Amino acid sequence: MDDEIHELNQDETTFRTIIEPFRIKAVEALRQTTRAEREAILLRAHYNVFRIPARDVMIDLLTDSGTGAMSAEQWSAIMRGDESYAGSESYFRFEETVRDIFGFRHVIPTHQGRAAERILFAVMCRPGDVVPNNTHFDTTRANVEYVGAVAEDLVIPEGRDPQARHPFKGNMDVDRLEDLIQRVGRERIPLVMLTVTNNSGGGQPVSLANIRAVRAVCDRHGLPLYLDACRFAENAYFIKLREPGQSDRSVREIAREMMRYGDGCTMSAKKDGQVNIGGFLCTNDDDLARQERDLLILSEGFPTYGGLAGRDLDAIAVGLREVLDEHYLRYRVASTQYLGDRLTAIGFPIVQPPGGHAIYIDAKAALPHIPPSAYPGQALAAELYLAGGIRAVEIGSVMFARVDAATGVETPAAMELVRLAIPRRVYTQSHIDYVAEVAARVWERRTCLPGYRIVEQAPFLRHFSCRFEPLG
Ligand SMILES: Cc1ncc(COP(=O)(O)O)c(C=O)c1O
Repeated sequence: MDDEIHELNQDETTFRTIIEPFRIKAVEALRQTTRAEREAILLRAHYNVFRIPARDVMIDLLTDSGTGAMSAEQWSAIMRGDESYAGSESYFRFEETVRDIFGFRHVIPTHQGRAAERILFAVMCRPGDVVPNNTHFDTTRANVEYVGAVAEDLVIPEGRDPQARHPFKGNMDVDRLEDLIQRVGRERIPLVMLTVTNNSGGGQPVSLANIRAVRAVCDRHGLPLYLDACRFAENAYFIKLREPGQSDRSVREIAREMMRYGDGCTMSAKKDGQVNIGGFLCTNDDDLARQERDLLILSEGFPTYGGLAGRDLDAIAVGLREVLDEHYLRYRVASTQYLGDRLTAIGFPIVQPPGGHAIYIDAKAALPHIPPSAYPGQALAAELYLAGGIRAVEIGSVMFARVDAATGVETPAAMELVRLAIPRRVYTQSHIDYVAEVAARVWERRTCLPGYRIVEQAPFLRHFSCRFEPLG
């Protein structure tokens, strides 16, 4: 593979049309359905879009995680995969790439991001500890809570206001971090985390200045800083676009600097690794790495494959280099913005400015007649499916309400969002135009949409499997 990572130069940015920087070699058919068919399908799924078979979805914007198209280079790398149990060549290629881009000493492969989280928190956290983050993703929060620790979200106030315009709405509120450390004591905080970009807060980036400021607080109190690096390349590209003094640097350099402030990271390679499965955990701490590898062997596998096949490791190595191609990142951010602009023109209130991998509709503002207790995000997600076979996901009180175990009483989430996540290199502009047309129809019917109640749920991550009933 050509190891040169492409940086944009002035000449290449003079045309207005930003094309998909790839052509299509293999295609998958989309099955078209009628509204009557979708009504029956949604009923069978108990109104939970996670329960809908993929064949019954026309445009699947449920997640950008593991749903991307791999490149010809990645498929070629798959054929190079060395499936030796111990010390495979694939591992060394993977390790070299991750070290080169991220710069951490120990690179521990895992089957996906949450496995890295589980191992990290099992090794670092004790019951009663507190883990600050800008905003924990659902699996991150669940894994913190599973070891008896408390997950604290400390994003800046603008990050909790969908309409607030701020170039780095994923930033952590450094004063609140300082305050938390004073309040609970540094000994109860085993690590600080920063999620780049901040998925649960709208896919919003974190600035270099903020990463440095968080690092400075960590240094003052002797705390390690870990990055949840799933979308590190999109975050680095936003820094290049928006942070003063960064426009002449390559995304690769910026990404490297972001990582330099960390003591390690968790990574779901299903996002900016551009693969369908995979992840890793990195650390600079030799002792932690030893404990993490011990745990890895228990559930994931030997340290040179960690729950993956050799071919997966090779595909990640190629994907991590490809994601730093600035033509790709320019198209990625522009095509997400395109969907955001179309939805805004219809009237939908969305989290502004659009994030890197998804558009987040503010369902509370779009459906003011549905209170958070009746899950406006669920109502909107259900109607997007019924209207046009589009699968989106609620990121609101279904996913994040705090449920009192004794009384069952729910404290609503900070925001009621619906995320339309865009798989990498999968859909073309006409697919997105179709999504906008369907959304326009949903907008016309918005005052008639019913709220929902949950009739069955699991104790953790209930949104994946719960059953709903429409109200009224
Ligand atoms: C910010 C963030 N962290 C962690 C994860 C978990 O990664 P995985 O789904 O690979 O377990 C995700 C997945 O969507 C994510 O977006």
